[in-house]
Amino acid sequence: MNILILGSGGREHAFTLKLSQSEKINQLFVAPGNAGTAQIAQNIAINPTDFNAVKDTVLNNNIQMVVVGPEAPLVAGVHDFFLADADLKNIPVIGPKKDGALLEGSKDFSKNFMEKHNIPTARYQSFTQENLIEGYAFLETLKAPYVLKADGLAAGKGVLILDSLEEAKKELKEMVSNQKFGEASSTVVIEEFLDGIELSVFVLTDGKNYKILPSAKDYKRIGEGDKGLNTGGMGAISPVPFATEDFLQKVEERIVKPTVDGLQKDGIDYRGFIFIGLMNVDGNPQVIEYNVRMGDPETEVVLPRIASDLLDLFEGVAHQTLAEKSFSINPKTATTVMLVSGGYPEGYEKGKVMTGVEKVTDSIVYHAGTTLKDDQIVTSGGRVMAITSFGDTIEEALKTSYTSIDHIHFDKMNYRKDIGFDLV
Ligand code: AMP
Ligand code: GLY
Repeated sequence: MNILILGSGGREHAFTLKLSQSEKINQLFVAPGNAGTAQIAQNIAINPTDFNAVKDTVLNNNIQMVVVGPEAPLVAGVHDFFLADADLKNIPVIGPKKDGALLEGSKDFSKNFMEKHNIPTARYQSFTQENLIEGYAFLETLKAPYVLKADGLAAGKGVLILDSLEEAKKELKEMVSNQKFGEASSTVVIEEFLDGIELSVFVLTDGKNYKILPSAKDYKRIGEGDKGLNTGGMGAISPVPFATEDFLQKVEERIVKPTVDGLQKDGIDYRGFIFIGLMNVDGNPQVIEYNVRMGDPETEVVLPRIASDLLDLFEGVAHQTLAEKSFSINPKTATTVMLVSGGYPEGYEKGKVMTGVEKVTDSIVYHAGTTLKDDQIVTSGGRVMAITSFGDTIEEALKTSYTSIDHIHFDKMNYRKDIGFDLV
């Protein structure tokens, strides 16, 4: 089977590597990919949101399945585009259509969905420029800190958590009246602050049945001790020690089942991943957000723990036979540490030559922001590489990742030395 993976980050390298291990794979293509995917698949230099270019790639390379990594092509309707095209309609796309992608594409939609289907989440209301005054009044009914969320996609920057009521009112006005996050913040969700620890649960569904994949914890802040600006993610660990069987049972009964059933009841035929961002509030799970894709860097610890064929699960999603499929999980702990460009998540330089990558033997090196230049690996993004290792404990796995990182160099390389600090 020939498969096309859309995207270019560590998540997509992890998909590519995992799928490359399937006996059913003939050729793998990644668009646009990175220097890591180039070693095991053929990169195609197109933009995943350019659907006509995706179509040409699919037809020219006899692609039989498309796996969508990031949210942007899903929210823009890549799956709908395939279904509406006579040449593409029978080629399965792993990832929801536009209607399902709204779970991530609109916070207002996802909060409404949760309320309608009794899925535990923070109390909320949505506001626009028209009812700004009511927004101020709603803020007054809440306690600090105040959580404001731009309704639309805002490159991971659309959530503000503010300590004072004055600041919250000022920012609400900035968002709805002055388009602080552009069109994405013309509607803003204001919600109650949830106090607890976060984890991510990943579900794969064919629209009727589902599989719950290993859970993971991501470290989002740039600085050690979870300080400083938010990033796409600086590291991850799977499994999560506090996600006990009892807790995960609550997640399945209170959240996963009503989510999959709710989609069906609402007539949304959802085929793909659901990433549920959860807060553990005194032992009870509450949903912070849905994403309609896998997490990055969570994928870099979740997929390597899946010991069986991932393509078999994807075929179950494509043909709605997921209920007949089974999969196995490596019980060991996986950790990943992200190497980033100095300055990230603010301004940073690109094009730095990387050395020592070939000396890493005990960890999996997932490329994220890398490219090949004259046969050398050079940096091309803020998040550059994720170094994943296994261990019997979190400490052991992290020790291996950090030892591997000692081999790798590039100018202004930065990484967090305290991934897992809160868990060990
Ligand atoms: P989101 O983009 O919705 O995941 O929000 C980004 C981050 O803001 C989350 O990962 C949480 O750390 C935090 N956050 C979002 N909503 C809440 C909430 N209601 N209470 C506490 N923290 C939140
Ligand atoms: N690591 C968080 C995300 O992928 O959104």
